[in-house]
Amino acid sequence: MTTTRSLWQDTRTFFPLFLSLIEERAVSSVCVVGASDGKFVLPLARRGIRVVAIERDGAAINGGPVVLPGHVESTMPGLRKRLAEEGLSDSVEIVEADILGSSLKVEPSDAVWTSCSWHYSINHNRPLIDFVSAMKDLCRSDGGVFGAEYMMPVEPRHLTMEHYPEEGEMRRFFPGWSIEWEAYTPPFLEAPHVEQLRDHVHRMGLIIATHQ
Ligand SMILES: C[S@@+](CC[C@H](N)C(=O)[O-])C[C@H]1O[C@@H](n2cnc3c(N)ncnc32)[C@H](O)[C@@H]1O
Repeated sequence: MTTTRSLWQDTRTFFPLFLSLIEERAVSSVCVVGASDGKFVLPLARRGIRVVAIERDGAAINGGPVVLPGHVESTMPGLRKRLAEEGLSDSVEIVEADILGSSLKVEPSDAVWTSCSWHYSINHNRPLIDFVSAMKDLCRSDGGVFGAEYMMPVEPRHLTMEHYPEEGEMRRFFPGWSIEWEAYTPPFLEAPHVEQLRDHVHRMGLIIATHQ
């Protein structure tokens, strides 16, 4: 079988914790918000899970020019082409849309996942609860699983923005849900990658919760 690579392949992630929990629960559908070129979509689809991939950036979906570390100009294949190359197109519904848009019409899935998406500046004109609520609406109400990893503050400007939550701050969005996992990294050095062409420091948080 052909295996393709995401441009985000080597960035650190808590995704294995989310994956093991949804595998234990025999989840059959997952919505990935901010799906980009499929770093998480393809591993889910390869496991026979039905995926809805929501992404606002048409280049991530359909491919296009990209600048890689070392300022190398390249072309990214995009999610659609990766799925086609791996024979997975029929397992994934691609929705090119902003999750905060009013016209989003997507049926709830058994689980919803996002990785470092709500801190994008495009989302700063809306309170964080709007993004989290839109994700919750994509999650089945009886036992649906919500998983999100997110950027935590590392620069002074982040401390004034709720889109970079501190430890424990995400809990307030989940009254009546069961919190399964919360985890936090210390600040760590991330190697250059697409969109961040120099060494940089991140801190990441994780929350996984079940809708009771
Ligand atoms: C850090 S990137 C994703 C990288 C990640 N490691 C992965 O491959 O899933 C976050 C993605 O979220 C998308 N995104 C951010 N805000 C969004 C929104 N409001 N609606 C849809 N997609 C959004 C961005 O366009 C970007 O592709």
